[in-house]
Amino acid sequence: MTAQLIDGNALSKQLRAQVAERAAALKAQGVTPGLAVVLVGDNQASQVYVRNKVKACQDSGLHSVLEKYEADMSEAELLARVEALNNDPSIHGILVQLPLPAHIDAQKVIEAISPLKDVDGFHIASAGALMTGMPGFWPCTPYGCMKMLESIGYDLKGKHAVVIGRSNIVGKPMALMLLQKNATVTICHSGTRDLKAQTLQADVIVAAVGKRNVLTADMVKPGAVVLDVGMNRNDEGKLCGDVDFDGVREVASHITPVPGGVGPMTITMLLVNTLEAAERAAAGA
Ligand code: GUN
Repeated sequence: MTAQLIDGNALSKQLRAQVAERAAALKAQGVTPGLAVVLVGDNQASQVYVRNKVKACQDSGLHSVLEKYEADMSEAELLARVEALNNDPSIHGILVQLPLPAHIDAQKVIEAISPLKDVDGFHIASAGALMTGMPGFWPCTPYGCMKMLESIGYDLKGKHAVVIGRSNIVGKPMALMLLQKNATVTICHSGTRDLKAQTLQADVIVAAVGKRNVLTADMVKPGAVVLDVGMNRNDEGKLCGDVDFDGVREVASHITPVPGGVGPMTITMLLVNTLEAAERAAAGA
C-alpha cells in the first residue's frame, strides 16, 4: 500500500480562506484582527519565520506589526514592549519569536504576555487550559496536526497514538490534544528503551524530535497514520523531516510530507488563534 499524502498546503489554503472570511466579518463590525510579532536579534532562521508570519497575516486580511530590536535589547525593555502590546487594543495576538538572546529569560517574557493574547499558546495559563480542557490557545504546531487528522475524518476514539518527542511546544501539548479526543497516548523520548516496540503498536504516530530517520518503515504498523513534525536537512542540504518518508509511505495509510505538510499548518493555526483572540475581544470575552 502506498500512503495517501495529507497535503498541508492544500489544507492551509482552505483554512486560510475561512480565516479571511471571518476576518472580513469582524472588520465589518469595526474590529480588524491584529498580530504583533516581536523579533530580537538577527537569527537568520527567525527572520525568515517572522517574515512568513507577517506575510500570511496580510494575505488573510489580518493587521500585523513586526517589531524588530537589536540583540543587545535588555530584558526590561522587552518586558516593557510586551506590556505596551498587552494594553494596545488594536493588537489581539502577541508572538515573541524564539529563541531570544541568552541574556533574556524567555520564560519570563512568555509569562508577561497576556494569556488573552497568547496566540503561540506557550504561556503557563495556556498550557494549564489545554491540560484541563478549558478555553485557551493551543500551540500552533500540534493544533495543526489535529486539523490534519480531522481533514481525513480520522476518529481517534480508542486508537493508540504514539508521540515521539516531549517538548513543551510540540510533544507534550500534542499528547494532551490526542488524549482529549479519547486516544490512548504514549509519549516516547530519548530515554525510551525500545522505541520500535512502541511505534509498532501505534495507529497514529507523531514524530517531533528534530532528527532524521527517527521513524523507519520497519517501525510502522501497516495502515498507521504518520505525522512528521521534523524540519531537518539531509546530506544534500534538502529539507526533510524525522520520518524516512520513502520507506514509511509504503506502509502507512496516510503520511504528511516535508516540506508541504505540518510546516504550513503551523502558520495557519497562528492565524486561526489570532482571529479567535480578536473574536473573543470583540465579544467582550
Ligand atoms: N521559533 C520557532 N518556532 C516558533 C514558534 O512557533 N513561535 C515562536 N514564538 N517562536 C518560534
